[in-house]
Amino acid sequence: MKCLTRFAVCLAALAAIMGAPLLSAEPKALAICMACHGKEGVGINADYANLGGQNAAYLVLQLQAFRSGERKNVVMNGMAAGLTDADIDELADWYAGQPWVIADNGNPNLVEEGLNRAGYCHACHGMKGYPVAKDWPILAGQSALYLDNQLQAYKSGTRYHPLMVNVVKDLEPSAMTALASYYTQLNGAAAPQ
Ligand code: HEC
Ligand code: HEC
Repeated sequence: MKCLTRFAVCLAALAAIMGAPLLSAEPKALAICMACHGKEGVGINADYANLGGQNAAYLVLQLQAFRSGERKNVVMNGMAAGLTDADIDELADWYAGQPWVIADNGNPNLVEEGLNRAGYCHACHGMKGYPVAKDWPILAGQSALYLDNQLQAYKSGTRYHPLMVNVVKDLEPSAMTALASYYTQLNGAAAPQ
């Protein structure tokens, strides 16, 4: 009855009930991450990864690897150290649900060379930089310096994955920079193949 007489109050109450789960979806631990990855997952520096729109299952694996120290990065090892499994799941879901932003911050003169070298990558990372498995990373539009650093990390051993170790074995630094410049300008927002 009150709903009929106090229509606005009723609507506000309904909106509060329906909106509550959406608002509370913002993870507690997000406050720690925002300083470097922003609320929407856009890194404030070119060597901080873009997380918005990335595959959730992949983000979970990376946060676990930073937490255990298996993936080494001084900053991120510290950031992940105190996260619970629930924090990790919430943060991964949050960032995966944000829009994917195309960084396109590589060297435009190296895009063609990168494309020519990417033949081998397509089998796993797709023709447009979308991976064949959901727990693998989207490369399309990721920040170039970050991508370049990761290829170096697989080579130096601060990051390990059996498939990527073989890939980087014979890659020179100049080839890594060209590949990073190619992948950063791919349109990640386009429909995955
Ligand atoms: C002080 C800056 C800083 C803060 C705060 C920070 N990060 Fe990072 N993050 C980085 C840097 C730098 C890298 C790149 C690490 C590397 O090169 O391996 C990174 C990488 C990552 C990656 C890897 C992305 C990929 O594509 O593999 C994930 C996931 C991530 N951060 C999540 C988080 C989350 C979640 C938080 C909050 C708990 C957080 N970060 C807080 C700086 C930060
Ligand atoms: C046999 C499959 C396979 C091939 C071929 C392959 N990759 Fe990967 N790549 C992976 C997997 C799996 C991961 C995730 C590894 C992990 O969890 O650390 C990955 C991760 C990466 C990352 C890290 C991205 C991030 O967000 O941190 C980069 C960069 C990358 N690959 C670039 C390349 C390039 C460039 C090539 C070709 C020269 C290539 N890969 C070929 C399977 C492959």
